[in-house]
This record gives sequence, structure tokens and C-alpha cells, in this order.
Amino acid sequence: MEVVILDSYEQISKKAAKEVSNLIRNKPNCVLGLATGSTPLGLYQELIRMHKEEGLDFSKISTFNLDEYYGIPPAHPQSYYAFMHENFFNHINVQPERIYLPSGTATDVNAFCQWYEEEIKRLGGIDLQILGIGRDGHIAFNEPGSALGSRTRIKTLTRETVEDNARFFGSVEDVPRYAITMGVGTIQEAKQIILIASGENKAEIIAKAIEGPVTAQVTGSVLQLHAQTVVYLDEAAASKLERYDYYKWVFENKPKL
Ligand code: F6R
Repeated sequence: MEVVILDSYEQISKKAAKEVSNLIRNKPNCVLGLATGSTPLGLYQELIRMHKEEGLDFSKISTFNLDEYYGIPPAHPQSYYAFMHENFFNHINVQPERIYLPSGTATDVNAFCQWYEEEIKRLGGIDLQILGIGRDGHIAFNEPGSALGSRTRIKTLTRETVEDNARFFGSVEDVPRYAITMGVGTIQEAKQIILIASGENKAEIIAKAIEGPVTAQVTGSVLQLHAQTVVYLDEAAASKLERYDYYKWVFENKPKL
């Protein structure tokens, strides 16, 4: 696992966007795994800028989102479908038929989840997965206790996640209690993973996920087992890492390799 610590959220967003754009330029029909939430917004903005100013072409890529609230339709303003269109898809030239998001209204949830997994496989697997991390250590909506081999399925959100996400819904009561989410096992199969975290409120969980034991109680810790994961942190999110100096040292010496 490579840990890259930069001064600001803007810098980590730009660095992560550079990685994504390099992949798109090298493999125009690549498959991206995408996240919602506050964290990847800077990355999406930078990719939109690259599309508009540098002609970065998204016309052949496919995208799979990590998760969607269960029980709300795509048209709901807080659906992840709406979020992704508003903050990313509407501003680039991705083809609508190549955009995949879990369904918040599937009636046969198990059949839907199996289909989602099969579509990922049919397109050759996820080349690059973007992740944020929740304060309880979740990646996607794999809340503490999720099996490390889990696949796409429905999950009950923790009280903490519901409270954290109330800021988007106006009140805790309005936040859905369930989500359809890629599993930890699904995420681990991505060829390359970028985890981004910013701000002091992520510092504690980042230290646990990166330097603590690999455990289903912090599903983000499973990334320690993934061979191609880069973690981009701003100084605040990195502030509780024990091996902070070493990560900085590695980064400084990287150009000499
Ligand atoms: C979103 C997702 C979640 C978020 C996490 C952090 O698709 O899968 O795991 O990445 O809850 O959210 P923010 O970025 O809002 O702190």
C-alpha cells in the first residue's frame, strides 16, 4: 500500500485525477469504479476540467458505482444516481448506457445484485476503483462486521452512517436505513484502487485502516491485502499515522527510483 500525503484537499484531488486521466488515456475503454460522498468531489471537478480544457475523452469508458440507498428512486434528489449525474456524468461525455449504479428500487434485490456482479465481470472487471472511507471504517457501505469476502448485496446502515449522511437529507429520519453496496470482495478484485481521505475527522479511522489489524470491524483495513492500492491523504487526515515520516520519506525518494 502506497501512502501519499499532500498539503491540501485540492492537491490530493488533482493527484488522484491525474492517475485516473492517465488510465483513460492509456486504456480508453477502461472500467472505473466510482464513489459518492464529499470526498471525491474535488477529483470529479478536476476530471471535468480536464474534459473541458484538455479534451479528456470519456466516450468509451464504463462506470460502476459502489452503492445506492435502497428505498428511494433515481429521481430522488439525494439518490446517488442524482448525485453522480449532477456532480460528474452531466459534465463529461460518458455514454449513458455505460453508466451502472445499483438500483434503489429493485424488487428482486438478490437477482439485481447478482446481475450487477455479472456485468462487472462481463466488462472485464474494474480497472480502477475510487474509494472514500466512512468514520466507522466502511468502504462503500460495507459497515463494520461485513464479511471480507462479501459481494454486492443489501446492507443495513449503521446509526453513525445514518447520522453522518443526515446533512444531505435535512434530518436523520429521512435518511434511508438500507443500501445496495458492492461487497468487500467485489472491491478487492479491482485491478487498482485509490482511497482518498481528507480532514481531521478521518484521521483516527485512517490510522486504524492503514496501520491497524486487518479486520471486518474496519472494512477499509482489507486494502492492506490489495497489491495496487494508493491512499491519498491531506495533512489533517494523515495526522494520526504512526509511520507518517516514513510515508513522506518514500514519496520524497520516489522520483529517484
Ligand atoms: C460512497 C461510499 C462511502 C463514502 C464514505 C465517506 O459511495 O461508498 O463509503 O465514501 O461514507 O463519505 P464522505 O466522502 O462523504 O466522507
